[in-house]
Amino acid sequence: MTITHEENEAIIGRASINDIEAILATPLVDPNEVEHVVKNNADSIFTWDYSLARPQLRKLYEKAKTGQWNGTTDLPWDMDVDVEKTVAEDQALIGNGIDPNWYAETPLAKWGDKEWLEFGIQSRKWSLSQFLHGEQGALICTAKITETVPWYDAKLYASTQVVDEARHVEVFARYLDEKLGGGYPINAHLEMLLDDIINDSRWDFTYLGMQIMVEGLALAAFGYLHQLTNEPLLKQLLRYVMSDEARHVAFGVLSLKEVYDGMSDAEIKDRQEFAYEASIRMRDRFLQQEVWRHMGVDPKVVVPLMVNDPGRKMFQQLLFAKIVPNCKKLGLLDRNDKWLRHRFEEMGVIQFENMENTGEEYLQFELGKEVGAPAAN
Ligand SMILES: [Fe+2]
Ligand SMILES: [Fe+2]
Repeated sequence: MTITHEENEAIIGRASINDIEAILATPLVDPNEVEHVVKNNADSIFTWDYSLARPQLRKLYEKAKTGQWNGTTDLPWDMDVDVEKTVAEDQALIGNGIDPNWYAETPLAKWGDKEWLEFGIQSRKWSLSQFLHGEQGALICTAKITETVPWYDAKLYASTQVVDEARHVEVFARYLDEKLGGGYPINAHLEMLLDDIINDSRWDFTYLGMQIMVEGLALAAFGYLHQLTNEPLLKQLLRYVMSDEARHVAFGVLSLKEVYDGMSDAEIKDRQEFAYEASIRMRDRFLQQEVWRHMGVDPKVVVPLMVNDPGRKMFQQLLFAKIVPNCKKLGLLDRNDKWLRHRFEEMGVIQFENMENTGEEYLQFELGKEVGAPAAN
């Protein structure tokens, strides 16, 4: 049941998921680029059926209306952020995110505290920048869903998500600009994924790519950073964003469940392959090659070790804590002889399959409730 090289070539554009040369061969995005144009191939659909047909989506819509917050007035922007101090404190808790012993044969072996701190600061800027660009992707995708989804209840809900995403872009952009002194361009692998999602003409692919995959990963990543960091502004910012993000993932699960239950095996196979492709693109982006370059280290020397670094593997697996149970809920894991299950087994993330899916747990993320990051196992 292992995936063949030909299958991988067709789906992700390379024979092996760990082909480092191929991953690094993707050119970096030009830092001077101001605009990026993507063709949106989908039809805009009116519906004249204004009846309440999907109560779960309408409930989500009501929750969204009362869950609004104001990025300008609800966050303590006048607070000073000491970047070096906050990154140093976070590093003291979990280390550098990678195990220095693992890189004994590389230039990293000579790094002292100063270099590791700088790496931590750049990583923070880079991560939040990718969140920011992903949020803009969500803004565009949700505007697209408002137009393309044929259901009235879903159009109402999607319109609230557009506002949510505008707020997320606003707060991440402001934090990067005012508190971290600027960020990084979008990672090429993330850009490819967002382009694919927007390009596709089938409306459920926007949901699958954005609400299930990108936002599923974001919800887990935000949860991780929210639990880790002691920087009060960032912690609060992430908590607010997560309260929206859980609703967004729930929107994907609740909408697609109905559609996928009625699909043929061949149609489901297309969705399974797309989910796999998205998983690989997101995994590739976390190799943070832009940060290595900034630090003067050739990614070709470090990245091959990174893919097997036990500390990083655990972090990477954690990112799939929401995606796997949600794919299971949608029936994507086991259709077509368990095709996606086998891919998630190969990626080492199948252990999350029995965690609660976001369609059921989203209310736990409402503001005022305690949230924790997903457990590793
Ligand atoms: Fe968002
Ligand atoms: Fe979102």
